[in-house]
Amino acid sequence: MRAVQYAEYGPSSVLSIVDVPPPHAGRGQIRIAVRASSVSPGEVKQRSGAMREVLPAVFPVRTGYEAAGVVDEVGEGVSDVNVGDGVFGTTSSERGANADHAVLAVWTPRPATWTWEEAAGATGAVETSFRVLDRLAVTRGDTVLVQGAAGGTGTVAVQIAVERGATVIGTASEHNHDFLRSLGAKPTTYGPGLVERVRSLAPSGVNAVFDCAGGALPDLVAIAGDPARVVTVADLDAATHGVHLSIASAGTTLGPGDPPAVYGLPIAVELAAQGRLRIPLAGTFPLAEIVAAHTLSETGHARGKISLLH
Ligand SMILES: NC(=O)c1ccc[n+]([C@@H]2O[C@H](COP(=O)([O-])OP(=O)(O)OC[C@H]3O[C@@H](n4cnc5c(N)ncnc54)[C@H](OP(=O)(O)O)[C@@H]3O)[C@@H](O)[C@H]2O)c1
Repeated sequence: MRAVQYAEYGPSSVLSIVDVPPPHAGRGQIRIAVRASSVSPGEVKQRSGAMREVLPAVFPVRTGYEAAGVVDEVGEGVSDVNVGDGVFGTTSSERGANADHAVLAVWTPRPATWTWEEAAGATGAVETSFRVLDRLAVTRGDTVLVQGAAGGTGTVAVQIAVERGATVIGTASEHNHDFLRSLGAKPTTYGPGLVERVRSLAPSGVNAVFDCAGGALPDLVAIAGDPARVVTVADLDAATHGVHLSIASAGTTLGPGDPPAVYGLPIAVELAAQGRLRIPLAGTFPLAEIVAAHTLSETGHARGKISLLH
C-alpha cells in the first residue's frame, strides 16, 4: 500500500510516498481502508525539525494522525464497530494515517452530513476544543475570545462555544471576518491594539480565552484579567505567563499532558447530524500531492483543515 514518510527533518520536499505492507489492527484497535486523511500543523512543525527538542523523531516517520474510511479489520476486544462501517478517528502514537490503510486507536461513526475529507480532519479539532472549553468551563452567558479562530482548531472551537450559548469573539485577518461571522463569532483582527478592540466588542469583559495561535499571551492575559482564564494549545512559553498549555498527546518532553476529551466526539457527531457543526476545509489534495498539502499548512494561513483524498 502507499504511505507517506520522511527520513530526515527538512522542508516539505523531504516527504515521499513509499510502498509498504499494510498494518494490522491490534487489540482494541480497528483498521480502515482510508478514504481521506488529514494534515495537522503539529506534525508539519515536527517534520521541519522545529519540535526536535520537545518531540524527537524516530526515523523514518510515517505521517498522519487523523483519517476517515471504511472498517476492514476489527481487533480483538472491539465490539462497537463492524467491517464495512464508515468511521473517522485517530491513530495511536505510531501515526501512519496518510496511507491506504490505517490502524485507528480512537474512532467514531461518520455522520452523513460530513464528507470523508471533512470527517478526516474532525477528531483532533473536536477533541482539542472540548478539552480546552471544558477546562475553562465555558457555558451559557460567557464571553469567550478564540485567538486564531479561522484555523483548523479555532473554527471548531468557535462553533462549539456558540452551541453552548457563549458570545464568541474570534480573531483572524480581515478577509476572514465574514467567514467567522458565518460560524457565529464576532470577528476582529489579531496583532497590536487587540486589547482595546476586544474591550470595545465586549465592554462587560471576557470570561475565557482559548489561544489557538501563540505569541500574544500578555495581551490575552490582560483581556481575561487572570492567567487562569487563558488556555493555550500553541504557545510553548505559557508557563512564563502563568498560563496553562494544554496538550493531549503523551510522549513529549512537556509533561504528561491533559486527559484527551474523546467524550466530545459523539456530541460533535450529534451536532453534525443536526447540521450544527461543520468542518471547514482550507484545501483538499490527492494523496500524491502531500508536499503541496504540507506547504499550505506551513503558510500559517490555512482557513480550516487540510485533507488528502485517497
Ligand atoms: N496542544 C494541542 O493539543 C493542539 C491541538 C491542535 C492544534 N495545536 C496547535 O495549535 C495551533 C493552531 O492549530 P490549527 O490547526 O488551528 O492551525 P492552522 O489551521 O494552521 O491555523 C491557521 C490559522 O491561524 C491564524 N493565524 C496565523 N497567525 C496568527 C496570529 N499571529 N494570531 C492569530 N491567528 C493567527 C490564521 O488566520 P488568518 O489566515 O486569518 O491570518 C489561520 O486561520 C498550531 O500551532 C497547532 O500545532 C495544538
